[in-house]
Formats: sequence, C-alpha cells, structure tokens
Amino acid sequence: MTKDRVLIFDTTLRDGEQSPGATMTHEEKLEIAELLDEMGVDIIEAGFPIASEGDFRAVSEIALRAKNATICGLARANYKDIDRCWEAVKGAKSPRIHTFIGTSPLHRAIPNLDMDQMAERIHDTVTHARNLCENVQWSPMDATRTEWDYLCRVVEIAIKAGATTINIPDTVGYTAPAESADLIKRLLKTVPGADDIIFATHCHNDLGMATANALAAVLGGARQIECTINGLGERAGNTALEEVVMALKVRGDIMPYYTGVDTTKIMNISRRVATVSGFPVQFNKAIVGKNAFAHESGIHQDGMLKNAETFEIMRPADVGLSGTSLPLGKHSGRAALRAKLKELGYELADNQLNDIFVRFKDLADRKKEVYDDDLIALIRQNDTVEDHLKLKHLRVVCGTEGPQTADLTLEIDGEDKSVHATGDGPVDSAFNAVKALFKHSARLQLYQVNAVTEGTDAQATVSVRLEEEGRIATGQSADTDTVVASVKAYINALNRLIVRREKTAPGEDVKGVSYKDVN
Ligand code: KIV
Ligand code: ZN
Repeated sequence: MTKDRVLIFDTTLRDGEQSPGATMTHEEKLEIAELLDEMGVDIIEAGFPIASEGDFRAVSEIALRAKNATICGLARANYKDIDRCWEAVKGAKSPRIHTFIGTSPLHRAIPNLDMDQMAERIHDTVTHARNLCENVQWSPMDATRTEWDYLCRVVEIAIKAGATTINIPDTVGYTAPAESADLIKRLLKTVPGADDIIFATHCHNDLGMATANALAAVLGGARQIECTINGLGERAGNTALEEVVMALKVRGDIMPYYTGVDTTKIMNISRRVATVSGFPVQFNKAIVGKNAFAHESGIHQDGMLKNAETFEIMRPADVGLSGTSLPLGKHSGRAALRAKLKELGYELADNQLNDIFVRFKDLADRKKEVYDDDLIALIRQNDTVEDHLKLKHLRVVCGTEGPQTADLTLEIDGEDKSVHATGDGPVDSAFNAVKALFKHSARLQLYQVNAVTEGTDAQATVSVRLEEEGRIATGQSADTDTVVASVKAYINALNRLIVRREKTAPGEDVKGVSYKDVN
C-alpha cells in the first residue's frame, strides 16, 4: 500500500508559548527549535515577530540556525505585521510567512470589516506576503464557525493571491471528527485551485477532540497537521504532536500516511518542553505520560512478561524510552551515570556532567535507589536562569502546636540576608520568609507537589507559578525534603520573573497583541 506524506507543522513556540504561564526564555526557545529540527518536524512556527522584540529575535535566530525545517512566523492581515515577519524569517534556508484573519461572524466584527472589505484585505495582504516570500500560509481563523459560502470565497481569494498552504483552524475546539473530515473534503472539491495547494488542519482541544479532529482532517485530504509538543497551548491546548505522529505510525493499516518525525526523540523533547514551559505532563497522558507504558495490575504484568504485545501497541523504545529502568545507587560511578543519562536522551558536556554527578551523589546518600525519574528531576533542576536569589539556609519548625516557623537565609545579588518568619504550616512560613527578604507583589497562582518515585524517601517535585502585572513565571525544583523543594521552586519562579521584568518592554507582550489591525 502506498502511503501519503503528511507534513508536521509544530507551533509549540507560537501557539504553545502563548498559553498563560508557558513563556520561555530566548535560550529555551532556541533549544526547543533545535530539538524540533533534529527530530524531523517539517515546519517550525517559531513565533509572532511583531509581538515583541524578544519574539522577533527568537524567530530570526531560529531561522538562521535551522538545518532542515522550514521556519515560519505569524503575522496578522496587515502590511506592518507581514513585513516584520519577513524580516525575521528571511534568513532561513526555507522561510514561510503565515498570515491570518478571523473570518467567522464574531471575528469579522472585531476589525469591523464587512464581508467584501475583509475579502479585499485578504487579497491585498496575501499578495503582499507572496511578493516577499514564495512560501505563504494563510489561515481563516475560526474557520469551523465561518459560513460555508464565505469560507469557500475567501479560501479561493487566498489561493489566487498566491497562498501555497491553506490552514483551516478550529480555533475554539468546536468541531468533531466527521465534520472535520467533511470540511476539508468539501473545500477540496468546491474551491477552484484547491488541488494545487496543501490544506492544513489546526485543532484546539476544548472538547478533547483535537487529535481525532486532526486525523479526520487528514482522512478528508489535509496533508499538514499543526500541533504542539505535549499538546501545549491556550486553554485546553492544541493537537499533541506525539499523539498524531504515533497514531499514524501505529495505525498505518487504516490511515495510510507517514511523517518525517523520528519518534525515538519524542520523550526527550516532551520532557524538555514540560520543564521549560513549567507545564508538567499529566501522568496518564497518551504517549508521554509517566504511566503511558506502566503496567501495574497483576493480570497486565503477567501478560506483559509472557508477551509484551498483550498490552502494548507500541514499544517504549519507539518513543525513546528505555525498556529497563534499573536504578543507580551510591556506588554507581560517573561512567554509569553518563550512560544512563544518554539512554534517557541527555548528552551532557563534561562540566555539566560533573555538576550533575555531585548532586547525584548527594541524592544517592539520602535515597537508597536513584531511579530514571529522579535523574530527570535532577537535570531539570539544573535549568537555572540567571540567579538573583539563591537559597543558602532553611530551617523549618512544624508540628501539631503552632506557630510554624522558618529561619531562612537567601543570597540576594551576592549578599546574604536572613529572616525569621511564621506562617500557617511549614510551606507558608517558608514562603513568608522569602517574601520578607525579597519584597515583591507577585501572586501565587499555582502550587503543585508530586512525588517523583515511590517510597517515603522519594523526591518531591514542586511547581510554583507566580503572576505579577500580567507577567507569569513558573519555577520547578526537586528535593527529598518537600519544603526545601517548595522554597527552591518559589525562588526559581522569582528569578524567572525578574528576568522577564527586565526583558519585557511595556506594551510589547504577545498577550497584549489584539487581533485588530494596526495598519
Ligand atoms: O487557533 C487559531 O486559529 C490560530 C491561528 C492564528 C492560526 O492559532
Ligand atoms: Zn491556534
């Protein structure tokens, strides 16, 4: 059976990064782009260049560095956005401009354009983009709630104006699989010139159907899937890259399509995106969740030992997980640690390995067995941003009789400062101590604790999300002591917030960009 190629368009760095709290630093964006490029993603949507200086710089640098992937930037339907986008992507070996406008009745009302005025705007802006770049993608935002006749009309205009890819976004996650397939099929049949371009599908997960809708669109004739790692994205997220890629691989019998993605790189990039975005992956998430390949029940374990295919439709190795998970201990040496990290997808430079080795030994002294997940937590902790604040000393007193107290010493920009604080519980008193030493108005939006492995000596990973004047930063940390992990995560979030304060020029945050025209 011949299989059709489906292009994978990753928008983790644009639609994914737009989700509140998922903002990544410049270096983190470059790293994720490099991993996407290495794993065989066809198109990387690297950002929204007009949104901020930071976005422009990131898209430009990713464009220059990419070895294989097409690099795409997003632009609203106006010349200023499109010119800025072209400036950012033009250094790529293969650049693409992606321009969009909301075409449904609700979205047409925002720039206050009637149908004819919008049609003219689409013609002019796509033509302008195509005069700059040979590779132009156009999206009618909220396509799935746009009147059918009008959708056909504007898609035809965009094709005639030179768009080479037409993306059909289900912006609010409203469609369902049969409708998603039908929409693409009918567009292909109805719109003149539709056979000469590629149709893309861009689904959001508000009703939990993003993966199903994207695959259905492929069955209907779409040949590009827009998706993000771990399904990161606004609200309930976007179609998850790992889900569509593995579904096409495992069910090639009923979906005769293939992608260029090296699936063995999935776990590594999933972990990196979880770390840098501060959005942990839910345990039972398909493909990349901690439990996706775990078999706990007796019947399952018995079957698995006799024949793995009884309960596994994919091999863990297919997504980059090693089959065995033998723990390391305090007698394990540097070579064993290096080999184990390599197996987990982390190839470290010597100085990084030295640093992790010291912390591994420290952990192995406190914990009998160090599992894969413990090592991953250690690596994640090494993701330091510029440290204005460092934890030097923490002593907490807690028990049934209050008040709980914390003695804390922080190094703040090179100077040690100490305080004694009280609170409602050990974490509250420790956080109060941080606030007393480093005054800030950030609000705690999320505080989440997970045990990395089993047992009372397990490490706790803690995520803390802070919000200050619309800027959001997430910090993570791990330690066998939950309160220590909590304070480190809080400090990590504050450090990220400080970096963000320095980097965000007023009014330039991507969330502040409205979909109105700025022409
Ligand atoms: O969801 C959406 O409609 C988008 C567009 C900008 C393509 O992300
Ligand atoms: Zn989207």
